[in-house]
Amino acid sequence: MSASGGLKIAVFASGRGSNVRALADAIQAGIISNSTLSLVVSNNSICGALEFARQRNIPALHISRSQFRTDGEFTASLLITLGNFGVNFIALAGYMKKLPVELVKAFKNRIVNIHPALLPEFGGKGMYGMNVHNAVIERGVKVSGATVHLVDEEYDTGPIVLQERVEVLPSDTPESLAEKVLHVEHRLYPKAISLFAMGKVHVRGKEIIIYE
Ligand code: GRF
Repeated sequence: MSASGGLKIAVFASGRGSNVRALADAIQAGIISNSTLSLVVSNNSICGALEFARQRNIPALHISRSQFRTDGEFTASLLITLGNFGVNFIALAGYMKKLPVELVKAFKNRIVNIHPALLPEFGGKGMYGMNVHNAVIERGVKVSGATVHLVDEEYDTGPIVLQERVEVLPSDTPESLAEKVLHVEHRLYPKAISLFAMGKVHVRGKEIIIYE
């Protein structure tokens, strides 16, 4: 999968869609250079992410496993659709489904995810949304943050591209922490994807080297 000629990004999302907005804005502002937001895909027909994409005239598709008879047909449809839109890079932004293994293989080292904590802490199955922030506050740690990582076949285990820390204050609640982390996400995700757009990210096995 080559990205010469820039990134053609598909964002996969299931919910609110604030990171889709942050990425669309960053592309428009040139913070992510030479790239297009080609497509937004959601498993959820009624969600903020699809609604936002439609408002901005970004192709927006509801594609869900339940529309297909078999896993194979679902995966084939995803791959064909991504091909039709010329997609060469995928960003997950609150996508609540595991991607088919064939898709992860077809886009090896070309799929990123954003996670609202400092991986490898507070990651893995079940660690999504407010579950993450509840766990952080419950454990009483002093620092949380956001992580952008490559997606492999497991949950939240791929090599880390960028992280940013957020201080957890004694007065923080899971809600206030979520708000602070989300604010950081909206800056960190465009920054990480812009590194890919500029060809500055090199992956060697489990190791990521970023050329500044
Ligand atoms: C974000 O907190 C992201 O880290 C997590 O899911 C949330 C998605 O938020 N993976 P939004 O739909 O982009 O507003």
